[in-house]
Amino acid sequence: MSRLAVMTSGGDAPGMNAALRALTRVGLAKGHQVIGVRHGYTGLIAGDMVPLSARDVGGIIGHGGTMLGTTRCLALKTEEGQRAACAMLRDQAIDALFVIGGNGSQAGAAALAARGVSVIGVGSTIDNDLVGAEPSIGVTTALDVAIEAIDRLRATASATRRAFLLEVMGRHSGYLALMAGLAGGAEIIVVPEHECDPVTIVNMLHALHEQQRSHAIVVVAEGAVWNADRLASFLASHNTLPTFETRVTKLGHVQRGGAPGVFDRLLATRLGAAAIEAFDSGQRGVLMGLQNGQIQATALEAVNQQQKSFPEPLWTLARTLAQ
Ligand code: F6P
Repeated sequence: MSRLAVMTSGGDAPGMNAALRALTRVGLAKGHQVIGVRHGYTGLIAGDMVPLSARDVGGIIGHGGTMLGTTRCLALKTEEGQRAACAMLRDQAIDALFVIGGNGSQAGAAALAARGVSVIGVGSTIDNDLVGAEPSIGVTTALDVAIEAIDRLRATASATRRAFLLEVMGRHSGYLALMAGLAGGAEIIVVPEHECDPVTIVNMLHALHEQQRSHAIVVVAEGAVWNADRLASFLASHNTLPTFETRVTKLGHVQRGGAPGVFDRLLATRLGAAAIEAFDSGQRGVLMGLQNGQIQATALEAVNQQQKSFPEPLWTLARTLAQ
């Protein structure tokens, strides 16, 4: 029997609870003790831990957020913080730490692994910018929220003959904007990975207006240089030709909250179970994630050194479809 600690860390993602439930129950079923670390690395450093039973994780599979709480812990980026986390794991006689989270959280996991801690990561972030997790837990639910917003906006945009700039999350990544734009049939998509000339957007909107289109949906990634606010004020001051009246909607954290969809529940459940199986088979310092439809382990070191590539063929397709 081993003492296994599990935490959720960084930005929450729909499906984190489902991963926690599966990891806990499979861990207990394999004869381990499972300890929940509250509030991410902050709680780890403070020793804020609670033993988890099968019942403790009952009824959470469909809940958004995370029952353990989560933080973005700056202290873990420091040597002092990392030493304190290692010391706490030793004091509590923890044999392995499971980190459910995205890029920053897995960088923390890699740092602890380099200090000799047995760590296994589970890829979870709505941004889908984590190497070794395609998609990561939370992405498809966040996309469902975005396309529901697009469908709703299209109705009001068509009724009023307006253009809507819809800003979606994703931090530095344009993945959510691209996929939401593709799935929602947006006329224009703006992502950080491709330079955007606001004059071109002005001209595109004018052209759509000239074609007697009833509306225009522009999906903008929050990380783009020309985010929704900047683009809106540029449009307001550079629209000399006939065009659409413009409105801005920012999805923000609405996109991250709420119940996980079926794909995320199943993905999280499979990854939680796979993380325990990886531990039992002796794997350490790895991230569990979906790759080409299969659950695979990727070295945390590689996860942190590499950058996920942008799906260029889909960007090209989106531009073709938006004609
Ligand atoms: O990483 C997930 C994410 O939701 C990003 O899309 C977003 O930029 C960021 O977190 C927001 O972070 P916070 O909740 O700390 O404001």
